[in-house]
Amino acid sequence: MRGGGIVAFPTETVYGLGAVATDARAVTRVFEAKGRPSFDPLIVHVLDDEMLAGVVSAVPASARVLIERFWPGPLTLVLSRAQRIPLVVTAGMETVAVRSPSHDVARALLAQTRLPIAAPSANAFGALSPTRAEHVVHSLGDRVALVLDAGATTLGLESTIVRLEPQPALLRPGALPVEEIEAAIGPVERIVRHECSAAPGRLEHHYAPRTRLRIARAADVPLEQRAGVAYLGWTESAEGYAASRVLSTQGSLREAAARLFECLYELDALECTRIDAEPVDEGGLGLAIMDRLRRAAT
Ligand code: TXA
Ligand code: MG
Repeated sequence: MRGGGIVAFPTETVYGLGAVATDARAVTRVFEAKGRPSFDPLIVHVLDDEMLAGVVSAVPASARVLIERFWPGPLTLVLSRAQRIPLVVTAGMETVAVRSPSHDVARALLAQTRLPIAAPSANAFGALSPTRAEHVVHSLGDRVALVLDAGATTLGLESTIVRLEPQPALLRPGALPVEEIEAAIGPVERIVRHECSAAPGRLEHHYAPRTRLRIARAADVPLEQRAGVAYLGWTESAEGYAASRVLSTQGSLREAAARLFECLYELDALECTRIDAEPVDEGGLGLAIMDRLRRAAT
């Protein structure tokens, strides 16, 4: 990585495809490997406060509160960019998205390089996010030279992205429920999906399996419409489908979040004509799960 290489590595959310954030040429290689459009900015990963100070030009008080409370962990903050972060990382913007991952391997990598690492999720642009090293290899093949394999990630959904100025706003629901953020700093505005300028790169069609997916409860799907179709259930499977996966028989959103992309990968591999995914309630982690399902269905 210090020589400009790109490496896939695990975080607690999903696997990332990393380059040293201050190396514009290496960062360009990340965009190329993913087939990612240059207008979609990357998240910069930092080890600690010292590394953060080299990435952002200021840390507002509300950001400080969130950092103390939730870092290291699945919270990304959009702050003002330090000059040494090249514009290719931020898609030309004066803000930079930054987070400190909690995964031991991600932290060891940051500690060894002693440099901030820009890393999007390690999948081809628009495809399902990888929660296992095998997913990275499946999606990127030999476009990535090295994958650090630490098995399945624990959270399974990308980080929550929050902007703090001019007022706190949720740009992407993720593995840290927005309710927990609000308990720490007060109300956080929910940016609606169509406001793309606030969350650049948040294209509607994203996180998608190759198989067509729609959001549907089995109870609303006549038996004859289930043949050859795969079902992703919340707590139960349903009869008549060609295959099914259950997110959490216990009804745990945490388990459901951890299993979501893995279940979609498995169902996608079966090459059914369609995937019916059951909706979940949108409180807590349910908001991020439904966000990913809606985008997969677009
Ligand atoms: O959990 C995660 O966040 C994973 C792991 C690897 O850390 N990373 C991840 O990165 O999900 P990616 O590239 O798939 O999603 C990053 C998103 C961009 O699509 C964009 O919406 C948002 O972060 N973003 C990045 N920089 C931004 C900025 N300056 N302002 C607003 N949104 C930004
Ligand atoms: Mg991604």
